[in-house]
Amino acid sequence: MIKPTQKTREYTRNDLIKAIGATILCLLVVVFTSIIKFYIIGQPVSSGIWSCILTLSVMMAIFMGGLLMFVLVARTEMIKNVKSYLAHLTVVTVTFVIHLFVSIISPLLMLPGLSAMVILQISRQKHDAFIFNLLETMMIMCVLLLESVMTEWEVLMLLGGGDGAYLWYLGCISLVGVGSGAFLPLLLQNKTRRVNYLIVGFFQMLASAIIFVLTLLVCDKSEIILTNFWMPMLASALTVIVSPILFPIIEGIFNLVTENRLIELTNSSQPLLRKLAIEAPGTYNHSLTVSNFAEMCATAIGEDPYLARAAAYYHDIGKLTNPSFFAENQSGYNPHDDLLPEVSAEIIRNHTTDGYQILKASRIPEEIAIVAIEHQGTLPITVFYNKAKALTDGDVDVDEYRYHGATPTSKIAGIIMICDSSEAAIRAMDKPDGEKINALLTSIINERIQKGQFDNCELSLQDIDVIKNTIIDAFGGVFHQRVKYPGGH
Ligand SMILES: [Fe+2]
Ligand SMILES: [Fe+2]
Repeated sequence: MIKPTQKTREYTRNDLIKAIGATILCLLVVVFTSIIKFYIIGQPVSSGIWSCILTLSVMMAIFMGGLLMFVLVARTEMIKNVKSYLAHLTVVTVTFVIHLFVSIISPLLMLPGLSAMVILQISRQKHDAFIFNLLETMMIMCVLLLESVMTEWEVLMLLGGGDGAYLWYLGCISLVGVGSGAFLPLLLQNKTRRVNYLIVGFFQMLASAIIFVLTLLVCDKSEIILTNFWMPMLASALTVIVSPILFPIIEGIFNLVTENRLIELTNSSQPLLRKLAIEAPGTYNHSLTVSNFAEMCATAIGEDPYLARAAAYYHDIGKLTNPSFFAENQSGYNPHDDLLPEVSAEIIRNHTTDGYQILKASRIPEEIAIVAIEHQGTLPITVFYNKAKALTDGDVDVDEYRYHGATPTSKIAGIIMICDSSEAAIRAMDKPDGEKINALLTSIINERIQKGQFDNCELSLQDIDVIKNTIIDAFGGVFHQRVKYPGGH
């Protein structure tokens, strides 16, 4: 039976080693680039260089270690899916390096909230953007302070004097940076509307200018306002320009599942989908219907509807290997009539493993590819099992007629399994109505529960009930009786 919904918090030792290794690597990059900058901006205090490097390393190790601890404690799934953690770390490191070198021209030109803007697009959790951005802002502030001490406040000359104004500048920049990380997730609720990024950029420019002017008025530096106030405004505009360049690079390198990527993948001009539409039109239509239901079910139980839709589009892509052997692509002739049941079963079940391989070869993200292998679970292919039993006198081993894949390991895969089997069964139904559909769905779901198909996917009984009712409602819309108009249209 299904266990109640609970978050599994395990990650493998391998995942942990990778995460620690990546953290140390990023730490080294951060420390080395800081040292390079120390040499670029001026003469480091030669007698104290080693103690400065040590201070820098310890400081950064505390920051990065803290980040790793946060992820281990609060965001365990990020370690389980270690590429996501690597992507977040890379954003922090790359934006840190950008800030560090931009600050050579002027600290006022540093791009506020750049890491938050990128992380917001690669992460499912809005608070990730704030936490990672906060950490990065603190890191850069500490490095700038340290380098100021090392160069005996020489960098202050860039901004007109060493009478404490530099600290005000740093405070001002950090405030804008942290503030951006806090407000961006709120302002960018709809990540797919690109115009929102421009609006956010405008607000950032306004906030930067106001904070800058206020800060300088407070520390009686009004003469600098006119000559420098354009800098924080330009920095905010640059944030909006640089983040769309950085985001697809990070997304592509780590093959991440982001909303933008999912929308791209469900575009019918995608080569794999075009191929499916031409070579297996029945399967293509089936996948479209499943995707509509899966999207509704995912929304109903609080899962990602974009991911459900994309996974449904590609779940049967393995049928491309032998399209005519699948009922939905046949018209009249059925090649299985001329085949032994074990051969037929082999062809049918291979569509899960073939699908996985096709998707991996096309660099479709793992989260979608895995659904191809899991959507049929480990159920036997009853048609050919029964055919084999009818053909032999002895016993037939049911295991030889099972799918070789695995049972669903995510709620999305569980949703696809239910929507997939329901769609096919209801479509084959004679005159479907609400009651008949309800009875059919109940038997389909109960059979899968009894055979342990949902044991590894965290779907609760309540989730399954919601999914069932959503499908019944949705099928009601598909199979409603059409009013017959005169003329037959
Ligand atoms: Fe399938
Ligand atoms: Fe299917």
